[in-house]
Amino acid sequence: MAAKAALYFTVKHNSYICCMSKANAIVMSGIRPTGFLHLGNYFGAMRNYVKLQDQYTCFFMVADLHALTTHPDTKELKENVHRVLAENIACGIDPDKAALYCQSHVRETSELYLYLNMLAYLGELEKTTTFKEKARMQPDNINAGLLTYPVLQTADIILHRATWVPVGKDQEQHLEMARNFVNRFNHRYGNVFPEPLAYNFGEDLVKVPSLDGTGKMSKSENQLATLYLADTDEVIRKKVMKAKTDGGPTAPDSAKPDYIENIFQLMRLVSTTEVIAHYENAYNDCSIRYGDMKKQLAEDMVQFISPIREKAESIRTNESYLHDIMEKGAEKARKSASETMNLVREAMGLHY
Ligand code: TYM
Repeated sequence: MAAKAALYFTVKHNSYICCMSKANAIVMSGIRPTGFLHLGNYFGAMRNYVKLQDQYTCFFMVADLHALTTHPDTKELKENVHRVLAENIACGIDPDKAALYCQSHVRETSELYLYLNMLAYLGELEKTTTFKEKARMQPDNINAGLLTYPVLQTADIILHRATWVPVGKDQEQHLEMARNFVNRFNHRYGNVFPEPLAYNFGEDLVKVPSLDGTGKMSKSENQLATLYLADTDEVIRKKVMKAKTDGGPTAPDSAKPDYIENIFQLMRLVSTTEVIAHYENAYNDCSIRYGDMKKQLAEDMVQFISPIREKAESIRTNESYLHDIMEKGAEKARKSASETMNLVREAMGLHY
């Protein structure tokens, strides 16, 4: 992996020119171990990881340092890190193809984070949507890590000089900030980093809605309206059947209210084209029965989620297997990180 990466960069007149093309793109992404993974994590991020790992050099990590910004109690961290790893593997990540590792095992991340902090301004950090949301939710713990969260995320990505970052729509602003930090660094110290882009296989970024139509699926909020990859068949059925509906459309071809559109959107993720077409037609000619639609959606969700749940469950408690995977992943990640950090220290003039 590292040998491949070295081909992409050549040193020229004190600047590091990126020769990146689609054929040799580097991919990087991460997930915080702050709760159970859900359908949003799968369709926003992991589905793309699985597609990308066959063709590109991929780095996927469990963002345990980011988790500390909101979850300072570390009692459950180990179990959560193991669960995220197991669920990634159950969803199809192959640790022999992609580097699958834990953020804190690659210490270079923290060094780059420190340098990037000098290029990040208080005003822009305070304006970040996720910072404002989290500051509202934890008014007694508005720590500096929370404020500089997008800086740490940038360090994760550019530590491997990655250009493609498979993420859901909620991460768009963080990627925009990452490009700003990259440009500031390159402008000040020389061209070390390519600009990273949020990535979703040729389509718009995904936001998987919650079942109650009030926002998105989430690890820690809105749990009754979120479908988790660990939910039992019965829980999946119960949650789907509770999704908000109404008496149905009263005129042909009418616009769908948001909460109905959400149910269709979830169906588009897991149901067959025939099933989707059937319910679209039934909606348009006003014959739709939402009870039947939800039953169908519940069964399609069970079909989708249960094999992932069962596979993750069988891996989750195998500590030595997970430990070996993490170590192998961290080794690959450290190799790539140390190459980048040599370029960074040299560009910054830190070689005395
Ligand atoms: P996190 O842990 O909140 O979410 C992990 C991934 O899942 C996506 N996602 C969703 N996509 C669609 N619909 C939803 N309802 C939904 N909920 C979550 C997220 O967009 C994300 O891709 N800051 C990151 C973790 C991170 C990271 C990185 C990501 C740390 N370093 C470097 C990319 C690159 C986060 O909090 O993700």
